[in-house]
Amino acid sequence: MTMGTTVALGVSSSISVYKACEVLRGFQKNGLEVRVLMTLNASRMIAPLLFSALARSKAIVDPIQEESGGSIAHIELAREISLFCVAPATANVIAKFAKGVADDFLSTFYLAVDSPVLIAPAMNEAMFLHPRTQANIRALKAAGVEFVEPEKGYLACREEGWGRLAAPERIVEEGLRLVRRSRSLAGKRVLVTAGPTREYLDPVRFLSNRSSGKMGYALAAEALSRGAEVTLVSGPTALLPPFRAKLVPVETGGEMGAEVAARAPEADVIIMAAAVSDFRFPETAGRKLKKNEFDGRIALVPTPDILEGLGRSRRKEAVLVGFAAETDRLEENALRKLREKNLDIVVANDVKTEGIGFDADENQVVIIDRNGRAVRTERLSKREIGRLILDEVEGVFGRKNR
Ligand code: C5P
Repeated sequence: MTMGTTVALGVSSSISVYKACEVLRGFQKNGLEVRVLMTLNASRMIAPLLFSALARSKAIVDPIQEESGGSIAHIELAREISLFCVAPATANVIAKFAKGVADDFLSTFYLAVDSPVLIAPAMNEAMFLHPRTQANIRALKAAGVEFVEPEKGYLACREEGWGRLAAPERIVEEGLRLVRRSRSLAGKRVLVTAGPTREYLDPVRFLSNRSSGKMGYALAAEALSRGAEVTLVSGPTALLPPFRAKLVPVETGGEMGAEVAARAPEADVIIMAAAVSDFRFPETAGRKLKKNEFDGRIALVPTPDILEGLGRSRRKEAVLVGFAAETDRLEENALRKLREKNLDIVVANDVKTEGIGFDADENQVVIIDRNGRAVRTERLSKREIGRLILDEVEGVFGRKNR
């Protein structure tokens, strides 16, 4: 790790708070600078002076006292760091992060950070397994936060169970992995398409599909978190574009095709997650058609396949990823699509299963490469699926550009 890389270590009030010193030392041994942020309650359990001495910089507890000289400490530090690691994290801290409550330095800092976030929970087993805590953890995972799961063992409350803070070495190892990954696509241009397209019959009526755009937006967010320069060509969705993505809004497949074609030659990775309408109307009327102008029949013509065009024209070094939404013989059909469209990776979705894929927050996919190697995921948030897809993309990119 290069010198000058800074980690913010958040410390909250668990009995395991003393282990945070080991986490701090572990990061330092790997060449990282550590800045410590403590909750007020943590500072009652262990003196901030200990952390200040170990970190060789003042541990921050209370923003009102710390902020002087006109600088806004939480924003400044948030921009400097390569990782925000909270160890130990109490149920309260996790709940506040999940809901966006910002009533002290640590929780305010979380909202300001745009580096990877790693959380190592520590609490009593009942609290850890409580449906509220688990729901908060799931929500944070869906937002891209990663966790070092607590271990099972003897707890301070004299009970055996899940909830012990993970071993400091595990937390440090995971933290280092996230720091490395936050730069793994630095300098790379990633082009992502997302959402449905609309094909207009007249100015008010169109043909579209159920795509929400969530998978493509999650992929864009994940690529950004790895340091890539991301362009998101998106059909109409109800989503907020990820912070720092260059958003190119489009409506029709024709518009999407043109925007993609203009940007593809510069892209290192192209991910076609959009559900492009396969058909359009032969023409779009310039005015709203009257009911009595329909005879009950509407003609459709096929739209050009954007991905297939890219498969023919793309640069050899670039990684091209397509999606295959299938209802039967998932992997076989997906692999055929990969070959026909000359893709490097195809992500196969089973769109028959309720609750995943189309218009859902979760997905379960098979990621297949040219050699037919398949990664079958569990059912996960789309952000976590995006992470697994980009891991494969990076693998292929590395092999192509060795
Ligand atoms: O052949 P099929 O439409 O199932 O392939 C899906 C993949 O092809 C997706 O990656 C989608 O973005 C892309 N596609 C496209 N242009 C179309 C239709 C699909 O780029 N007209």
